[in-house]
Amino acid sequence: MADSPVRMRPEIAALPAYKQGRQAVADGYKLSSNENPFTPLVEIVEAVARAEVNRYPDATGPALRAKLGDRFGVTAQEVHLGAGSVALLSQFLLAVCEPGSEVVYAWRSFEAYPGLVTVAGGTSVQVPLGPGATHDLDAMAAAITDRTRAVIVCTPNNPTGPVVTAAGFERFMGRVPADVLVLLDEAYFEFVRDPGAVDGSTLIGRWPNLVLLRTFSKAWGLAGLRLGYAVGPEHILDAARAVAIPLSVTGQAQLAGLVALDHEDLLFARVEDIVGARTRLVAGLRDLGFAVPDAQGNFAWLELGDRTAAADDVFHEHGVVVRAFPGSGLRISVGEHESVDRVLEAAALLR
Ligand SMILES: Cc1ncc(COP(=O)(O)O)c(C=O)c1O
Repeated sequence: MADSPVRMRPEIAALPAYKQGRQAVADGYKLSSNENPFTPLVEIVEAVARAEVNRYPDATGPALRAKLGDRFGVTAQEVHLGAGSVALLSQFLLAVCEPGSEVVYAWRSFEAYPGLVTVAGGTSVQVPLGPGATHDLDAMAAAITDRTRAVIVCTPNNPTGPVVTAAGFERFMGRVPADVLVLLDEAYFEFVRDPGAVDGSTLIGRWPNLVLLRTFSKAWGLAGLRLGYAVGPEHILDAARAVAIPLSVTGQAQLAGLVALDHEDLLFARVEDIVGARTRLVAGLRDLGFAVPDAQGNFAWLELGDRTAAADDVFHEHGVVVRAFPGSGLRISVGEHESVDRVLEAAALLR
């Protein structure tokens, strides 16, 4: 890009391109993207096949929004669909940011946040995680200024794993001015087993500036179809709808989402299985002497600092693809049960 005569926004030209995790290795396990290891239900595959791909989808997905609205006790207008919750994050940030706007979020957190804020024209205010790799909500509240337009709270936090508690979130909301948008990113909500965790669905209507973001990518196993949703006040969702790229939520995704909701029991049995594998993975890593933070998503975090790149290579040599954040740590997704054994074998070599 450096030699191009084309003039670009300087902050965009300086942005590193999105780097996806390493792809799968032969006879190995891809544990780098927090994906669901189960193959889709036959009913979902059939639903995808039914979609008319020669036609545009119904742009707003009314049937799915109505169904989600019923589950959350809100109207269909208080639900907005996106091509993944990352698309929704982008839309809300575009809707609220102007040059000079600040967006507060914890760091380290979801690696897409910094780029999305920059693209929206805002400035990131990253608040270091507190003890146990948890959100430091007091410091985040203190970081809010007149320039703050949005705060993103990620629970459980990707990539470290702990949740924000219900009590902590409530206190935090009491300190956020009503004109600052709060995005509660609950991409991994269905894996949470901590009874003290915040549950955005119980908070709908409590604050006029709160929007929940959830996704079909993780627990529901539809990452490849790109489907996420926001629940919140209609006028805030309308602003996101206004900046959304039209027709980006496909008919396949909408049909698959509807069928997935009808098969919640089967899919949640799989989630329970993943939670069981997570318990085994975390216990095994702790037995090896690693200080693994509380893991409430479908992943576990190893803080390895300077040893991260070398550890990444060891896992790779053992057929395990993990997500390395050089100089910081490794995130290991919870995959097939057999993958847990392979991870623990490789991890033992790091001690
Ligand atoms: C915290 C968090 N939020 C949002 C997303 C986006 O998920 P999707 O766009 O697939 O819904 C992810 C994906 O990894 C994530 O980890």
